[in-house]
Amino acid sequence: MAFCSMICCGKGVDRKEKGKKQPTWRIFSLKELHSATNNFNYDNKLGEGGFGSVYWGQLWDGSQIAVKRLKVWSNKAEVEFSVEVEILARVRHKNLLSLRGYCAEGQERLIVYDYMPNLSLLSHLHGQHSAECLLDWTRRMNIAIGSAEGIAYLHHHSTPHIIHRDVKASNVLLDSDFQPQVADFGFAKFIPDGATHVTTRVKGTLGYLAPEYAMLGKASESCDVYSFGILLLELASGKKPLEKLSPTVKRSIAEWALPLACEGKFSELADPRLNGKYVEEELKRVVLVALVCADNRPEKRPTMLEVLELLKGESKEKLAELENNEVFKNPQSAVTNNDGISTAEESSEIIKEEKDPKPVTETELEKAQDG
Ligand SMILES: Nc1ncnc2c1ncn2[C@@H]1O[C@H](COP(=O)(O)OP(=O)(O)OP(=O)(O)O)[C@@H](O)[C@H]1O
Ligand SMILES: [Mg+2]
Repeated sequence: MAFCSMICCGKGVDRKEKGKKQPTWRIFSLKELHSATNNFNYDNKLGEGGFGSVYWGQLWDGSQIAVKRLKVWSNKAEVEFSVEVEILARVRHKNLLSLRGYCAEGQERLIVYDYMPNLSLLSHLHGQHSAECLLDWTRRMNIAIGSAEGIAYLHHHSTPHIIHRDVKASNVLLDSDFQPQVADFGFAKFIPDGATHVTTRVKGTLGYLAPEYAMLGKASESCDVYSFGILLLELASGKKPLEKLSPTVKRSIAEWALPLACEGKFSELADPRLNGKYVEEELKRVVLVALVCADNRPEKRPTMLEVLELLKGESKEKLAELENNEVFKNPQSAVTNNDGISTAEESSEIIKEEKDPKPVTETELEKAQDG
């Protein structure tokens, strides 16, 4: 198997950074993971995603882990497993969830990560922790900048460059200090050097998909930038990426935010749970950056490096340019495509009636592309 040979090569590699030895990953036995998770007990379950269920566990040395267990074995899942393992094993950055190890015995495929005690951004914005309001403005700013650093690393500093393809609130995990770690590279795809985009089957989650990706399957770094823009709006406003206006009509968070930003009504954009406690300049910056990221025209979106610079407010000139961006003068241009195609989110065919955003299935996409 492809991932086996990669893993065998990777295992002996000493990861030395700035003179400090970084812990490497290792192979876990099924027996060890059974005992760590109390036989994958239901009480240990942290959640479920496209790949399978995630369980909390504790190893013999007391350290806490999260174990992702592949739901159904298939050739396709096998490919996803090897993609995730291969990419994770290569990538090390303070804002990217690193791999602790894996297990492949019989038809069982498991990935072991560090457990993130503050769970995901999703759980704080819309889930089990949302009532506790643990995300004050400082933490939100940290999460915005840290997750941008993680994605910028994937796009610009890893070799070859990596597109994440599933940037969303449940894939931003929070450590004990609420520092963000971007997770889930199972959908990631290597971009060959020199290629501007790769055409692939669309994967990802409704509400976060760039229109050119949802409609035409064109995956590039700028698709992640679009999803990141949606994530930033979610982080600032506490709203979900798609809002149900009526049983058949849904509005994207960008469509809601753009007119308010154009009118300078930033206080209406802030999450009411912040109780007005935020830094006005920073909120404005986050919203403006988010909206240029979520432009429907990929060529108008900034790169993650530019996003980072803007979020940090490092260049006064660039911030002034941002404020004068045509998007805020002519909002219609950003929500309508060059070809006049409406946004993917507006296409009723691919909007499913669901409580939580779910990965788009191939049937849904085929339907959407036919339509
Ligand atoms: N290392 C971890 N520490 C704590 N919670 C985790 C960890 N990894 C995943 N989770 C949580 O487990 C749940 C399931 O994660 P999973 O990645 O399988 O699904 P997802 O993010 O909802 O969707 P997708 O399959 O598209 O990534 C999520 O709520 C996620 O936040
Ligand atoms: Mg996930």
